[in-house]
Amino acid sequence: MQLLAPECPRCREKLRRNGETLNCSGCGIIYPLNSGVADFLTPLSLAQELIDICDYFDNSAVNYDNMIVTMVEELKCPWREYSELIERVVAETRKKLIVNLGCGTSFPVGSFIPLDSHYLGLDISSEMLKQSCSLFDDDSNASFWRIDVERLPLPDNSADLCLAFFSFNVFINLEETIRQINRVLKADGELFGTIALTLPQENLLKPLGPISAQQLDVLLRGLKDRGSELFTERKGNILFFHLKPATAKAP
Ligand SMILES: C[S@@+](CC[C@H](N)C(=O)[O-])C[C@H]1O[C@@H](n2cnc3c(N)ncnc32)[C@H](O)[C@@H]1O
Ligand SMILES: [Zn+2]
Repeated sequence: MQLLAPECPRCREKLRRNGETLNCSGCGIIYPLNSGVADFLTPLSLAQELIDICDYFDNSAVNYDNMIVTMVEELKCPWREYSELIERVVAETRKKLIVNLGCGTSFPVGSFIPLDSHYLGLDISSEMLKQSCSLFDDDSNASFWRIDVERLPLPDNSADLCLAFFSFNVFINLEETIRQINRVLKADGELFGTIALTLPQENLLKPLGPISAQQLDVLLRGLKDRGSELFTERKGNILFFHLKPATAKAP
């Protein structure tokens, strides 16, 4: 499957590959490719709040998989059930562009991506992206971009499935994030993810804040207006959400 050319996150002009860089003919910015990861952030300025989040996840990347398993279990959702639910949706997404927003280490979702789909892992933390890359072979059906979710370098109507596992618990501006998802999702595209409704008392993942089902419902209203329907399933204190075209069958 051919991956779409990225757009400049600053001026939205199409980018052209030139050796180890992606060049914008609109505003002249040059984005580096570092060990296969396209870096859309280093040439742009980042707010201090985002730098702090990025540093936190850079420093947690090596231990992150253990931390997330612990958190899921402490939220009273057995890890096996958690990963099986993710596998059920992702593994049936065939010949599609799957975009993971705040992909982190891509664990466990990376192992469920069908070979005939393309996986695009997006994250602000280069260390988390490094862990993600290590899950896939060099010639695999996956790409990784270092981005800020509020400035997605993707064309309109390009993604078939957007994923967001616990990312909404961290993203600073959820309204803008939803606007971006609305923009990049195809008309029949889907959004699937999880939120933590509460957090464990001894929360290891400091930047996370809880989100209620009502907050999520309000947030996703703009997306539902495009004729989609929201399905949710609660496992312990984790809410799975799946927004899909209204005609699709319930899970
Ligand atoms: C709680 S982790 C979730 C990681 C992964 N989705 C999972 O299932 O474990 C949140 C991720 O969002 C990333 N992140 C935070 N703010 C971001 C932003 N503004 N743009 C892109 N990624 C961001 C963090 O670096 C981190 O990897
Ligand atoms: Zn540009």
